[in-house]
Amino acid sequence: MRELLISYSNKALRVTREEGITSLLTVATLNAFQLMYFPFCARRMRSITGDHGLEEVVDFAFKCGSSIIKPFQIRSEILGLLEELEKNNRPKSIVEIGTARGGTLFLFTRVATDNATFISIDLMNRDYLGGYPKWKTNFYKSFAQKKQKIHLLRADSHDTATLKDVKSILDGNKVDLLFIDGDHTYKGVKRDFELYSPLVRSGGIVAFHDIGQPKEGTHGVNEFWKEIKDRFDHREIIEDIKQGWAGIGLLYIK
Ligand SMILES: C[S@@+](CC[C@H](N)C(=O)[O-])C[C@H]1O[C@@H](n2cnc3c(N)ncnc32)[C@H](O)[C@@H]1O
Repeated sequence: MRELLISYSNKALRVTREEGITSLLTVATLNAFQLMYFPFCARRMRSITGDHGLEEVVDFAFKCGSSIIKPFQIRSEILGLLEELEKNNRPKSIVEIGTARGGTLFLFTRVATDNATFISIDLMNRDYLGGYPKWKTNFYKSFAQKKQKIHLLRADSHDTATLKDVKSILDGNKVDLLFIDGDHTYKGVKRDFELYSPLVRSGGIVAFHDIGQPKEGTHGVNEFWKEIKDRFDHREIIEDIKQGWAGIGLLYIK
């Protein structure tokens, strides 16, 4: 509770300082709305199990209480990835880079096996710059079902100490799905791929979010994706080629 109050007062101070009182009131109303829905969302979440159809699970994540866990994804694309995972043996071991609001983490818990292990990495809270506050860790851990285990690493994925922690959690086991959705710069996404893809088992998947071609020029993930995709069997899940963002790219590891 103390952490929650500190986190909200810091945010309030910064918004007032940088954007003025009108912005503060807007942000405060939004946050109050979210807080009101939080217990409802958390309770309802427990009843949305993997036995529900994927469509229902995805709808819940997108709609529950004013974007509390809304994934930073296009609905049809993330649904496409989940369907692929469901079809090709539910994953038992998932590493995700980019926890954010926990949206994709929640969805992965609903498609994985009952005893799956999840490692989700994100930076320490830096307000608008990413990460999430420590008080949310219990909430994210509550996504686990049955014998699932969620490990949250609040650290920079590019740091070799983080890789070491991931390896130690995996304890020699290989990863079925690596979901790269953290640092979107070319250098950042390349480093995530180079550090973590060797952990993926033969027959496993490396998925990148934001492979889509921007309206103008290129950007880090798009550039790296174009460079790497033809070295693997791959699939692109993109709702509309002209959308200018998002898109999920899958590499099938041999
Ligand atoms: C687009 S969001 C992830 C969205 C999430 N996968 C979803 O759809 O629900 C990207 C996240 O990556 C995190 N991030 C950026 N650079 C990172 C790094 N070097 N290490 C760990 N996390 C990073 C940011 O803090 C941010 O929360």
